[in-house]
Amino acid sequence: MDTTLTGKRAVVCGSTQGIGRATAEALAALGASVTLVARHPEALAQVQAGLAAAPGQAHASVRADFSDLDGLAAAVSAHLDDVGAAHILVNNSGGPPAGPAISAKTDEFTAGFTQHLLASHTLVQMLAPGMRAAGYGRIINIISTSVIMPIKGLGVSNTIRGAVANWARTLAAELGPHGITVNNVLPGFTATARLGSLIQGRASRAGCSTQEIEAQMKQAVPAGRFGRPEEIAEVVAFLASPAASYVNGVHLPVDGGRLAAS
Ligand SMILES: NC(=O)c1ccc[n+]([C@@H]2O[C@H](COP(=O)([O-])OP(=O)(O)OC[C@H]3O[C@@H](n4cnc5c(N)ncnc54)[C@H](OP(=O)(O)O)[C@@H]3O)[C@@H](O)[C@H]2O)c1
Repeated sequence: MDTTLTGKRAVVCGSTQGIGRATAEALAALGASVTLVARHPEALAQVQAGLAAAPGQAHASVRADFSDLDGLAAAVSAHLDDVGAAHILVNNSGGPPAGPAISAKTDEFTAGFTQHLLASHTLVQMLAPGMRAAGYGRIINIISTSVIMPIKGLGVSNTIRGAVANWARTLAAELGPHGITVNNVLPGFTATARLGSLIQGRASRAGCSTQEIEAQMKQAVPAGRFGRPEEIAEVVAFLASPAASYVNGVHLPVDGGRLAAS
């Protein structure tokens, strides 16, 4: 199976921790030159320093905030001028704040839409021409199982994820003829800082311990445990590779079987 990414450049968003970081590490391990994108320069430098690097691999970091589309476009455009085109784009960012949809303010939806859909769209518009010229493009969006089954208490997130999912499948049809695939990875409960803060929020609302909430959540997963960020990253790496050339426009849950069991 051809999973080598030697000679490819991957832009990995939200890559200072959690799923994005594990993805950057997995792509670097397969030979890609990785560009990390996130807000915190020290964390970016730390992750970059830890990436596997064989001769010919040149990793880089771009500091940007997905809430600031003009700033994002300027920073990534300057970077592409330096390093040339990218072949792989992993769209990923921090999840919107928790809470029911009915009480969410309209500007919470606007903020989520900007950070998740419009930032990803800005990047796709910048990177797709280079992918097309190279005859190789892989766009992978880290979304959520809420695309298939909304998650209680994540009203804004459920709404925005649905929009991102359909945007991506629309692009899959538009870009497929140019050798570019667009796929969505839907992580289940994955042991990261994001999951930790969601568990803490649920525990304080329910007036019980975080251990009790964790146990309840794990009961819903046939695997009986939370996923590791690396288990999501390996699926992303496959989709980024030449081996996944005929996979386009899918929603791929990586959730230990939770959706199937619900
Ligand atoms: N963990 C789970 O169980 C789970 C399940 C389903 C879906 N998801 C979704 O999968 C995605 C990744 O999850 P995760 O658990 O790995 O999240 P995480 O641990 O919170 O990491 C989020 C990453 O995004 C970056 N980021 C956040 N806001 C940003 C912004 N405005 N601009 C630029 N970068 C930003 C963060 O870096 P900086 O702070 O340095 O910017 C960080 O590297 C999220 O959308 C999450 O909701 C997670």
